[in-house]
Amino acid sequence: MANRRRFLASSLALSAPFLLPRIGRAAGSAERVRVGFIGTGNQGMSLLTKFLDDDLGDVVAVCDVNEGSLGYREPDHFYGREPAAEFVRRRAGTKGLPAGCDAYADFRKILDRNDVDAVLIVTPDHWHADMTVLAADAGKDVYCEKPLTLAADEGRRMIDAVRRGKRILQTGSQERSNPVSRFVCEAVKAGRIGRLSRIVTKVGYNNKTGPGPGWVPEAVPATFDYRSWLGPAPDAPYHHDRCLYRFRFNYDYSGGQITNFGAHCNDMAHWGMDLDRGGPTEIECLEAKFLPAGSLFNTATETRFRCRYPNGVELVCESGPEGVQTRFEGADGWMQTGYKGTTASDPALLAGMPAKGTGRQDSHSLHLANFIDCVRSREEPRAPVEVGHASAVLCHAANALIRLFPEAGPTRAAWDATLGRFVDQEAANRMLVPHRRDP
Ligand SMILES: NC(=O)c1ccc[n+]([C@@H]2O[C@H](COP(=O)([O-])OP(=O)(O)OC[C@H]3O[C@@H](n4cnc5c(N)ncnc54)[C@H](O)[C@@H]3O)[C@@H](O)[C@H]2O)c1
Repeated sequence: MANRRRFLASSLALSAPFLLPRIGRAAGSAERVRVGFIGTGNQGMSLLTKFLDDDLGDVVAVCDVNEGSLGYREPDHFYGREPAAEFVRRRAGTKGLPAGCDAYADFRKILDRNDVDAVLIVTPDHWHADMTVLAADAGKDVYCEKPLTLAADEGRRMIDAVRRGKRILQTGSQERSNPVSRFVCEAVKAGRIGRLSRIVTKVGYNNKTGPGPGWVPEAVPATFDYRSWLGPAPDAPYHHDRCLYRFRFNYDYSGGQITNFGAHCNDMAHWGMDLDRGGPTEIECLEAKFLPAGSLFNTATETRFRCRYPNGVELVCESGPEGVQTRFEGADGWMQTGYKGTTASDPALLAGMPAKGTGRQDSHSLHLANFIDCVRSREEPRAPVEVGHASAVLCHAANALIRLFPEAGPTRAAWDATLGRFVDQEAANRMLVPHRRDP
């Protein structure tokens, strides 16, 4: 904790020039919104492409600690700051727009620019909180990818910075803008399946394999600033399976599929039960499997946990082949939606359901467009900071019990959603604070 405070203090000191007072974008301003992308890997390039396809504004800068390399989610994915900047310049050129897009290795250079209204933070999870706080303090609006945080205790700092600076923050939970997810969650909220009693959410299995015990560190590629990739995370020897895309499977940078997919399906669970700024009163880890000790990937490979909410609803979240899925069960039937489609106990329950969107109606496009609309109007976006925080915290709390599982076995613990802490479970509470290194 002290390390984290020192890290942030030093970052703030380094970025002091960026904190000069800056007038935020005025409500209703008709000017094009100017943005900078921080993190141009797998998801960064996907969002960047949609942003340009839909002509949502001007991308004046991109930033990545990787100059450019192959080997992201798929071996032939060539991403990083130079390919991203080149992509923006080329696209701007074909549309006759100003072709300037700067590429930086240090995100603070984007925060320093007065011509940037908003940043999109699409880095691994261990950078989300510090970048958001610095961006908000520098007067930028923020689109920050899900899961909003690496650890439960980071959300409060992000909320304070966003609200203090009167910033717009959209969590990258695009299901909030998916018309089908919206239909299902709002129908459940409105009582279409009767009194809600149970929700079952599914998270996928690990979709990558990493090296096992005895793995050998590799040389850091010349194009990659590994120290800055690690940032606030503990020092660790380089291996390519630690970084691009695969960071998801190591607790120093993420929380495995419980936070990766869980941030989507459990967020929808909160939405459908109309409790999207709250949390459970009890969490119980029922099952957890891990790779052998010493493997580079140390997050759980299979899990099952249960939560109880103050409204009497039970949520069970488990690993499965469905990928992301949320199933709502009520007194009068059930409805479920996810990667494998949307079904219900009675087709009549789905009457009026919109078609799945494509192109500009795709959920990512709609979610980005909602963010840009809110940057202009200064209204609340669909997934504001408190909502992103609440769904991430649920996943972190479950992970805390899951990580204790090998020794402790099935564990049930009372949870205080207001404080964001377990009641009388100090070992689990310690897991809510990320390990940090000195700056
Ligand atoms: N909303 C969704 O459906 C969705 C889908 C995929 C990923 N994501 C989220 O997006 C985030 C990124 O995931 P990804 O799959 O794109 O990972 P990735 O590894 O492919 O890309 C992350 C990029 O961030 C860069 N980076 C790391 N530290 C940086 C720093 N200090 N400054 C600038 N750049 C830095 C990396 O070099 C890399 O290029 C994660 O939080 C993930 O959960 C969301």
